[in-house]
Amino acid sequence: MKGVSLTQFIIQEQRKTPTATGELTLLLNDIASACKCISHAVHRGALAGVLGAAGSENVQGEVQKKLDVITNELFIEAMNWTGHLAAMASEENDDIIPIPAEYPKGKYLICFDPLDGSSNIDVNLSVGTIFSILRRPDAVELPREADFLQPGVKQVGAGFCVYGPSTVMVLTTGNGVNGFTLDQDHGEFILTHPHMRVPADTAEFAINMSNRRYWEPPVQRYVDECVQGKDGGREKNFNMRWIASMVAEVYRILTRGGIFMYPFDTKDAARPGKLRLMYEANPMSFIIEQAGGASSTGRQRILEIQPESIHQRVPVILGSKNEVERVASYH
Ligand code: AHG
Ligand code: MN
Ligand code: MN
Repeated sequence: MKGVSLTQFIIQEQRKTPTATGELTLLLNDIASACKCISHAVHRGALAGVLGAAGSENVQGEVQKKLDVITNELFIEAMNWTGHLAAMASEENDDIIPIPAEYPKGKYLICFDPLDGSSNIDVNLSVGTIFSILRRPDAVELPREADFLQPGVKQVGAGFCVYGPSTVMVLTTGNGVNGFTLDQDHGEFILTHPHMRVPADTAEFAINMSNRRYWEPPVQRYVDECVQGKDGGREKNFNMRWIASMVAEVYRILTRGGIFMYPFDTKDAARPGKLRLMYEANPMSFIIEQAGGASSTGRQRILEIQPESIHQRVPVILGSKNEVERVASYH
């Protein structure tokens, strides 16, 4: 095997902090194992009979795919016995998930989206898993929902694994962003994308244009200017992408820059945005900021939002710094 494995990398990182106990390193290893299992299930696809609808809805009233349910169970079962977590919260579960009584508890909390972009699974496009690691508050033995409601700046680590043409894990623990490709022959993640950076400028934007009539004027203005390019007020022409998998969009932005928006819209008065703060917006914002990009609702830095509930939704505008700042300035 060539190169630095994820395990080797995180142990080397741990050694830079002499007071570290190694618990976070072990937790990150558990997450990597869980993502390998999910990668396998996703790539087997129709051969394993895992495509199609599950015939149920989640707490958010979204139709669940079979793989939403399967990957959620895989993730929980890979993580609940290892002793590094005090509790979990999943996009697919109404309530937080306690650690079964027979297993030891650890000092971390995890929030996760087991399968992001699941509307893409049956059409064989990229999907992924997103996670956010928080500290269990001191002296809390059995965490409750309130213990998860920490702003994104408190994240200890965050990452996502994208199941695309190759399986790639992207990780930050607050010291930059690194990408690891799964070597299917050896079953190991190998460091292939060290020090990922988001360029400050871009000529590529990503938004679901079909929602244009529901957006607020600042976002309409920004997107109209991109579409008009050199013929409008901007100094350059823009290209557009929309994959409908946040993992794939963020991976693209980490690779070549760009701006991704799921902004505030008036489509459904009960939802101030589509994406979920704890499972999608916070971890992705932490990663993007660590790579030199920016992330905002248009009015506020996402990482500073005080969460009110674990399934809360927020507007998301993230990516290349100068473009995100421009959109924010229009608000
Ligand atoms: P999930 O599959 O976990 O519900 O998340 C899908 C999200 C996100 O990944 C993507 O950017 C967005 O929803 C796509 O929404 P539209 O279908 O409205 O474009
Ligand atoms: Mn998602
Ligand atoms: Mn999901």
